[in-house]
Amino acid sequence: MKVLIFDTEKEIGDAAGKIFVDLVKAKSNAVIGFATGMTPVPTYNYMAEEYSKGNVSFRDITTFNLDEYCDLPREHKNSFYMFMMDNLFSRIDVKPENINFLDGNAADPEAESKRYAEAIIKAGGIDIQFLGIGRNGHIGFNEPAGAFTDEAFKVRLTDSTIEANSVYFDDVPMPRYAMTMGIGSIMRAGKIVFVATGKAKAQAVKAMIQGEVTPKCPASILQQHKDVTVFLDRDAASLL
Ligand code: PGA
Repeated sequence: MKVLIFDTEKEIGDAAGKIFVDLVKAKSNAVIGFATGMTPVPTYNYMAEEYSKGNVSFRDITTFNLDEYCDLPREHKNSFYMFMMDNLFSRIDVKPENINFLDGNAADPEAESKRYAEAIIKAGGIDIQFLGIGRNGHIGFNEPAGAFTDEAFKVRLTDSTIEANSVYFDDVPMPRYAMTMGIGSIMRAGKIVFVATGKAKAQAVKAMIQGEVTPKCPASILQQHKDVTVFLDRDAASLL
């Protein structure tokens, strides 16, 4: 893993964002795996700014998001679909038909998982997967577990994740389940760009980089990926 440490969230966003912009300049039909959460937002700001300056077009990219809540309408303000529309997709020229999400309301989660896996293969595989990390070491919604997963699946969220994300839910209770890409899907991406900021992530970041590879810290599997760039601020790096 290549670990880079920055002073500010904006510097992380600019540096991580440049990787995506450079990819799309070199390969206009790139396939990008996107992530939600507050940490990726400065990266999305950089990408949207580069688009508005006319420096890059995202017209031909295909996107696959990591995860989506179950039992929440896609148009609800807290869905990850709406998060991506607000923070990135409505600000760039990606084609709506090239945007892919897991359907958290699918009646048959196993069939939905299969559909997503096939769509990723049909698109040619993910060139770069963007990742944040949960305080409990989750990536996507792969929560600490007894075994690493492969393809997408329906997951019961842990108390730690519910506590961290329920602050965003003011009108409906936070969903207890989500659909997430599995660890295998994430590991098959050609390159991984990872961001973490703040003291609350320091322990998880340490376990990810310096701990044993274990499904109890799902992010630790990234030690086995050949091309991971980790962007941290000083707080997130404080226990390394
Ligand atoms: P955050 O979420 O960026 O809002 O902390 C990251 C995650 O839970 O993966």
